[in-house]
Amino acid sequence: MNKGIILAGGTGSRLAPLTDIFNKQLLPIYDKPMIYYPLSTLMLMGIRDILIITTEDDFSLFQKLFKDGSFLGINIKYKIQNKPAGIPQALLLSEEFIKNKSVTLILGDNIFYGHDLIPQLKKGFKVKKGACIFGYRVNDPKRFGIAKLDKNYNIKEIKEKPSNPESSYAITGLYIYDKTAVEKAKKLKPSNRGELEITDLNNMYLKDKQLKIEILGRGIAWLDTGTFESLQEASAFIKTIENRQGLKVGCPEEIAWRMGWISKNQLIKIADKYAKSSYGNYLLKVMKID
Ligand code: TTP
Repeated sequence: MNKGIILAGGTGSRLAPLTDIFNKQLLPIYDKPMIYYPLSTLMLMGIRDILIITTEDDFSLFQKLFKDGSFLGINIKYKIQNKPAGIPQALLLSEEFIKNKSVTLILGDNIFYGHDLIPQLKKGFKVKKGACIFGYRVNDPKRFGIAKLDKNYNIKEIKEKPSNPESSYAITGLYIYDKTAVEKAKKLKPSNRGELEITDLNNMYLKDKQLKIEILGRGIAWLDTGTFESLQEASAFIKTIENRQGLKVGCPEEIAWRMGWISKNQLIKIADKYAKSSYGNYLLKVMKID
């Protein structure tokens, strides 16, 4: 079974004081907690074995929200990251969970949405030896890990937050790694800012000529939610789509039902729990929408 990791720790320092006492990934994006979106992305990719990595302080909140995941027809386990020592640390903390298999890692503050998104993400599963990352055109490349590409969109180099970006393609927060990822992550050294860098790990794959990039086109939205501005924009984006279509974006209960992982009766039971919220009404309504 494909395995997935959601990284939901961090300090959220750019969102203080919101994050002084609250985990960033539990903040609302319109009508649901932020982590519902990356969780939904993994579920839509067919991933049912999921590890949530978070801080010691917030661990019990996530556990309260998702328990063992069985109400969504999935398995959820938890792992504590004592200090936010960088994204690749997720792989080191997950060695036992990954068990020498390939793994999909998603950042808990990344929202993906758009036409044909899931088939494109699932192309990454075809990379049997190596890693697959996803590029997305951004307006402000100095803020991201940026991919230099040749004219056939093969990746040549990745630079973290370059002062003179050589392209506008940022590396998104979803990475599909083969079974060598943990061993590679063990070789990483902390950067000047004292963290293990995901760009360094990806560059290791690149050096071995085992890094593939899929470019997500302009019909897809990739939003990050790490600042006040982007948090608000993401909420407005989700609200606009949901109100227009009458369908929810990133609703794990609906996805579980559509994937056939839970029954109609199980979905009704969840809807009853939320009877006073429009979220619950939606779950009842969605069973009748095709
Ligand atoms: P960042 O946005 O790089 O960091 P942050 O969430 O701590 O926020 P800030 O920069 O405002 O201090 O993290 C990206 C995602 O990865 C986010 O969902 C948190 C998660 N993360 C961890 O869980 N552990 C880590 O060690 C790091 C670096 C990030």
